[in-house]
Amino acid sequence: MVGTENNPTIAIIGGTGAEGRGLGFLWAQAGYSIILGSRSVSKAIARASDLNARIDEGKPSLRGMDNLAAVQSCEVSILTVPYQAHKSTLLELRDGLQGKILVDVTVPLIPPEVDRVQLPVGLAASLEAQEILGSGVRVVAAFQNVSAEHMNVDGSVIDCDVLVCGDDSGARSEVIRLVQAIGMSGLHAGPLANAVAIESLTPVLIGMNKRYGVKNAGIRVTGIPRSDE
Ligand SMILES: NC(=O)c1ccc[n+]([C@@H]2O[C@H](COP(=O)([O-])OP(=O)(O)OC[C@H]3O[C@@H](n4cnc5c(N)ncnc54)[C@H](OP(=O)(O)O)[C@@H]3O)[C@@H](O)[C@H]2O)c1
Repeated sequence: MVGTENNPTIAIIGGTGAEGRGLGFLWAQAGYSIILGSRSVSKAIARASDLNARIDEGKPSLRGMDNLAAVQSCEVSILTVPYQAHKSTLLELRDGLQGKILVDVTVPLIPPEVDRVQLPVGLAASLEAQEILGSGVRVVAAFQNVSAEHMNVDGSVIDCDVLVCGDDSGARSEVIRLVQAIGMSGLHAGPLANAVAIESLTPVLIGMNKRYGVKNAGIRVTGIPRSDE
């Protein structure tokens, strides 16, 4: 988990939630400059301050901003909002995201049946994101199968693969580097269309959590040699 001075600044849209806070904490510990975004600046600052209290000395402090300012101040954005807020959030931030990579973590869960695959109209949240944002934004889908339960425990090893898909292979590679920086194994998982399958695994995992009485079921792909293991 070693960061360098060349690391991109990362903004987490909806970064006050469980998934966004977890990712933000891990990247900050890895030396990345992190901005937590929120609809409320004061909430963003408060959540950033909570995480800063847990960050090792010498690591960059997380900052809090409103979502638009966060996006305007970063090189890579991570979207962690409930599916119900996905379209409206992207429409608000569309201009600020142009020219950047957006990593969509959103899973199109439709309560109350969150343990059942329910495809959205556009088949995947990240495909809908690409449609809303246009070709000026490189949308990559990742982390949908990683429970926040893993990420909000100090020092825990995250025993998960992260399937990373997107239509721009350079953007995919950049996101895989971000995955590896926080101790997980990122795998190229093809074009953004494959997000239909990857997002759909999450309700399956939620069902398994319930069935087996756990909170963090995840996935591991076998048969691929890993250079870091
Ligand atoms: N939690 C997990 O374990 C997990 C795992 C994999 C994938 N995911 C996916 O990651 C996304 C975030 O999950 P989460 O558990 O972190 O969600 P969450 O805590 O319910 O929400 C995250 C943030 O989204 C913002 N938000 C909520 N309602 C909104 C609205 N109507 N309009 C705009 N912003 C709104 C809130 O930020 P502000 O109030 O500060 O604006 C909130 O803190 C979801 O799509 C989820 O399916 C979650």
